[in-house]
Amino acid sequence: MQKLFMITLGIETSCDETAVALYDSEKGLIGEAVFSQIELHGEYGGVIPELASRDHCQKITHIYKTALGKTHPSSIDQIAYTAGPGLLGTLLIGENFAQGLALALNKPLIPVNHLEGHLMAPFLSGEKLDFPFLTLLVSGGHSLIIDVRGLNDYEILGQSRDDAVGEAFDKVAKLIGLGYPGGPEIEKMAQQGDPEKFKFPQPMLHSDDYDFSFSGLKTSVLYSVQDLDKITEDVQADICASFQHAATEVLVKKISKALIDTGREGIILAGGVAANKLLREKISTLQQSLNITVLYPPIAHCTDNAAMIAYLGSLKTNEATYQLNSHARPRWPLGDAIG
Ligand code: KG4
Ligand code: ZN
Repeated sequence: MQKLFMITLGIETSCDETAVALYDSEKGLIGEAVFSQIELHGEYGGVIPELASRDHCQKITHIYKTALGKTHPSSIDQIAYTAGPGLLGTLLIGENFAQGLALALNKPLIPVNHLEGHLMAPFLSGEKLDFPFLTLLVSGGHSLIIDVRGLNDYEILGQSRDDAVGEAFDKVAKLIGLGYPGGPEIEKMAQQGDPEKFKFPQPMLHSDDYDFSFSGLKTSVLYSVQDLDKITEDVQADICASFQHAATEVLVKKISKALIDTGREGIILAGGVAANKLLREKISTLQQSLNITVLYPPIAHCTDNAAMIAYLGSLKTNEATYQLNSHARPRWPLGDAIG
């Protein structure tokens, strides 16, 4: 007979965070540890896959022990891990670790989709929002507007045709000599800058769909930088403020159009870029004007974490398997069944 309450271990290694968490279906999150490789990749201005894989190998056992704390491994009922999308090498490390544990503890595995984890992250803290709703999922790898009709029932309404918005933040930061990841650095510098100083384009603002494009915006920043003799701190701040203004304007206009067209009454903001305060302010204004519900995960659960993976696993007990097949895959479109 299935237990009434289950403890799900979650493992996340899709990019540059090594994360493990424990989710108890009765008590909620009971353990969590994250190690971010930001410093390791900082000097390169982006994630170096081989370095990321090696570092996951070095950290994962320690992170697992930290997340478990005093909880005995025998109380784990099932093990959920990110199988994609992400870097294949780093995903395989999480998968192998999960399979080793599954064998040792004789517990089943649930390979889950990282994007679906981000979608469900706000519910971790017990917040409520009825289906259907829209999600704006904005991270280093994705810029998506998703119609969420239920668990496993998703339709992608819009997406970026080129760079993801987080990628644009990272690349612009690198262009003007700021560190990695670019999002938080740009946000900080933008506080002192003038958002009207540079007139950067807001690509596809008026297109009749929900798609985005961020590479033109990034190129426009590049041209502006090339025209400058010297990038002073003041200029850096103005570029950050103007870029952040343009990027968030497009995100907000598109989600607003999607809300009006679909008549959905709630949105979830997810992914690393959802930590951006200007974006949150603009979405709050939209919330008031359209009278909708908005949920944001706490900042720590906007960026990559294993709590969202453990929680998602807890909803997918029916998919748990004792088979040790490899499911790790760099591309895994949201809503597609695990192969
Ligand atoms: O979700 P996430 O941690 O990892 C991926 O799955 O990509 O998102 C990381 C991305 C990076 O591109 C980072 O620059 C961006 O989220 N980011 C931000 C902020 N914090 C993180 N972008 C804008 N403003 C922020 N405060
Ligand atoms: Zn992510």
